Amino acid sequence: MSARGLVRVTPPRGALRGAVTVPGDKSIAHRALLLGALAEGTTVVTNLPGGGDVRSSLGAVQTLGAHARVEGTTVRLDGVGPGLAAAGRAAVDCGNSGTTMRLGAGLVAGGGAEVTFDGDASLRRRPMERVAAPLRRMGARVETTDGHAPMVVAGGALAGIDCTLAVASAQVKSAILLAGLRARGATRVREPLPTRDHTERLLAHLGATVRRHPDGAEVAGGARLRGGTVPLPGDASSAAFLVVAALAVPGSEVRIADVGLNPTRTGFLDVLRRMGAAVEVADRRDEAGEPRGTLVVRGGPLRATAIAPAEVPGTIDELPILCVAAALAEGETTIAGAGELRVKESDRIAAMEQLAALGVGVRASADGLAITGRAGAPLAGARVASYGDHRIAMAFAVAGLAAPDGVEIADAGAADVSFPGFWRALAALGADVGGAGP
Ligand code: S3P
Repeated sequence: MSARGLVRVTPPRGALRGAVTVPGDKSIAHRALLLGALAEGTTVVTNLPGGGDVRSSLGAVQTLGAHARVEGTTVRLDGVGPGLAAAGRAAVDCGNSGTTMRLGAGLVAGGGAEVTFDGDASLRRRPMERVAAPLRRMGARVETTDGHAPMVVAGGALAGIDCTLAVASAQVKSAILLAGLRARGATRVREPLPTRDHTERLLAHLGATVRRHPDGAEVAGGARLRGGTVPLPGDASSAAFLVVAALAVPGSEVRIADVGLNPTRTGFLDVLRRMGAAVEVADRRDEAGEPRGTLVVRGGPLRATAIAPAEVPGTIDELPILCVAAALAEGETTIAGAGELRVKESDRIAAMEQLAALGVGVRASADGLAITGRAGAPLAGARVASYGDHRIAMAFAVAGLAAPDGVEIADAGAADVSFPGFWRALAALGADVGGAGP
């Protein structure tokens, strides 16, 4: 039941039932910590998730000179203001967190310090030139290691740019906007497809002027941020695993309270509804510029769908668990234009090909997958690897709910990176979660 190395999930005796919550939104948490460090005054972040990635961002801002007091899930951060990372040298350990590294690079690019960003083996494999190149164009000195971490960012006087992104990436967009706050003139980012807009919303919440365009956003240089209160909603990406868990077990009814419902993050709900899922939203409201509400999910049969390239940025982190929904559905589900999956915490296309071991028809291509579901028939039992990737561990755990012989996930503790308490939440709903093997 705990986050051990090997975890085995088998179908529950009855349906999954109950009300659960998920940890606070990881994506907004990173931004609240990084922007809070650049703000003047105190930023109070509540419902801070405890996962490894957010700890990396907390460590980063402390290394860069912000003072943080953590009490339970509340953090009070005294910002440094425009003098953040103004001089000297620092080394930031980003662990497994691409968001800490890419947004962190943008955060320090307008200072005067030399900051070395490094991370674990998975993060060292991920592409960093996509953020290094635009920051160089703005005037920072950025050195990568063959396009990867370790990455050294020596900040300097920056000039705003008008930049068109080659890949739709909220991390790259956000890094450029953060650098733009300390640049001369305006900085505009144009994206090929809309990506999550938490940075834009939070900048506005903390007092910066952000102009929204149909193809991106623009910030004015020299903006001063004021500390503020940032109450984090539950993380929709974490909720997605419990939503599909409920769908995997007929007769289930699960409520997940206070989940972030930013439309740039809820593409997975649109896809699941198209597949026939019954998901309702109750208590919808807005707090600190972000919508939230309660998800009510009822288990039932699913049918295949096509996930188009235009839907990929809005479902990017949910594609592994949508593959599991596809494995349960009737017909062939296709995912296209999702080459970015190959450069996430693991190669998630290769990782999801392991569905074949569960008796599911899977064909992978360079940038997508075709999955022929078992139309409600049980999945086969198997042992799979998480590849140290939190979302792969949790996706296969949910698949185990439909596999009478169980799914064993090696290195299942990876789930803690974004969803500490995942195994407990799954068990609390009635799932059979246990250790296995030697
Ligand atoms: C994130 C953006 C996405 C996402 C990641 C978090 C963010 O990455 O996959 O988990 O918080 O901005 P990309 O921007 O690289 O697509």
